[in-house]
Amino acid sequence: MSDAIDNPITKSPTISSVIKPMGHYDLRIVRGEGVRFWDEEGTEYLDAVSGEWVVNLGYRHPKVIEAIKSQLDQIEYVTPVFENEQRTKLAEKVLSHAPKNMRSVLFALSGADAVEGAMHLAMRATGGTEFVSLYSAFHGTTFSTLALSYSYPKMLEGSKEGLDRYLTRQTRVPNYNCYRCPFDLKPGSCDMLCARFMETAIKHQPDAKVAGVIIELFQSNGGMIPMPDGYIEAVRDICTRNGVALIADEVQTAFCRCGDVFASNVLGVEPDLIIMGKAFGAGMPLSGVVAAEGFTSLRGWEAGFTLMATPAVCAGSHAMLEVMEEEDLGRNSREIGAHIMGRLNEMKDRYSIIGDVRGLGLMIGVELVLDRDSKEPADELTGFVWKHALEVERLLIGKSGPVFGDFGNVLKLKPAVNTTRAEADEMLDRFERSIAAAQSRLETKH
Ligand SMILES: Cc1ncc(COP(=O)(O)O)c(C=O)c1O
Repeated sequence: MSDAIDNPITKSPTISSVIKPMGHYDLRIVRGEGVRFWDEEGTEYLDAVSGEWVVNLGYRHPKVIEAIKSQLDQIEYVTPVFENEQRTKLAEKVLSHAPKNMRSVLFALSGADAVEGAMHLAMRATGGTEFVSLYSAFHGTTFSTLALSYSYPKMLEGSKEGLDRYLTRQTRVPNYNCYRCPFDLKPGSCDMLCARFMETAIKHQPDAKVAGVIIELFQSNGGMIPMPDGYIEAVRDICTRNGVALIADEVQTAFCRCGDVFASNVLGVEPDLIIMGKAFGAGMPLSGVVAAEGFTSLRGWEAGFTLMATPAVCAGSHAMLEVMEEEDLGRNSREIGAHIMGRLNEMKDRYSIIGDVRGLGLMIGVELVLDRDSKEPADELTGFVWKHALEVERLLIGKSGPVFGDFGNVLKLKPAVNTTRAEADEMLDRFERSIAAAQSRLETKH
């Protein structure tokens, strides 16, 4: 197995025909089942991240596959301007799980275009033109979503290529991060300055009105960061008082990842717009926006896509939601998440390299540091753990990249939401051996 290649375009002759904007690791996966997948040589791997936090029921859930196949036997495409029964059924199912203020669903294909749909809806509803996003946020790689994302200025550092030609002007404000507070304050005595600062940002727009504040309900690419209690309530209040849309980016947090179909319900917030993506299509391309009363008007063809919400994709998504209901997977996510967090906190007592463990349901991050007092990020050892887990333990975990947040020292565990306790323990045993290997590397260096 070759080393991970960071260069976006690989030199391998067999795959040079594909431009790979997300880097490349030469592992050829050919089959998946539940929380396991196999490469072309038949080697079995355990997947602790649901692919890319996408297959929330694991690979090839029989009910999802059956729903997709039987719909394909009827018809594969219906023009978006005609009634599409599977699309309507899915919208109703989504709304039955959404916060009670929600009224309609706008469909799209990927997280980024759903974010853009939400931007349109917010602008139409509020008359504003600007958006506020957070430090370390990630909302996609189309021009306007890159503009909202923290990664963009880092990617273009020193670049003179003029790629900002189509970028919109946006305002970024300090994020919530109690482990590394951007204001250098301590939880409990900070008076939630990160939330209060949002109001300052909204009011100090020199020449334009803010349409929306966009927030991940658990900051993911930026380093797996949970919101402190009271944060989202404070931001909700600020948005309401200022006539600004609260847009919850639930591309990663929805579909039982955080203990309910929507993390908004776990946190008890009623956003104006909720963005769905990743797991929404159960492995197929599907995204969307759930919109509250007053946030549903668009002009014809303003934010639509030819291939959005095709019948088989909607049928698979609907089947996924039914399984989530039947098996009470929100509860499973909370229970298995609590079990994993418990074991990770025990590991923290054994390995000084673990600086912080944080999670909500099965959305879990482990931050590695060289020293707990200085919190110096252990970037290199984090890469080592990721590689060791994959190559030695045959365990796929996730890792934050410095391009999104400040550092690349956070490991991610986001297994399927129907993961059993035995499967979680198997993942954790392999994870712990990888952490132990990194700890002894650290100790031999010093
Ligand atoms: C929180 C969040 N929003 C939006 C996106 C963009 O989604 P997509 O890659 O499907 O366009 C991502 C992707 O990682 C994400 O994590």
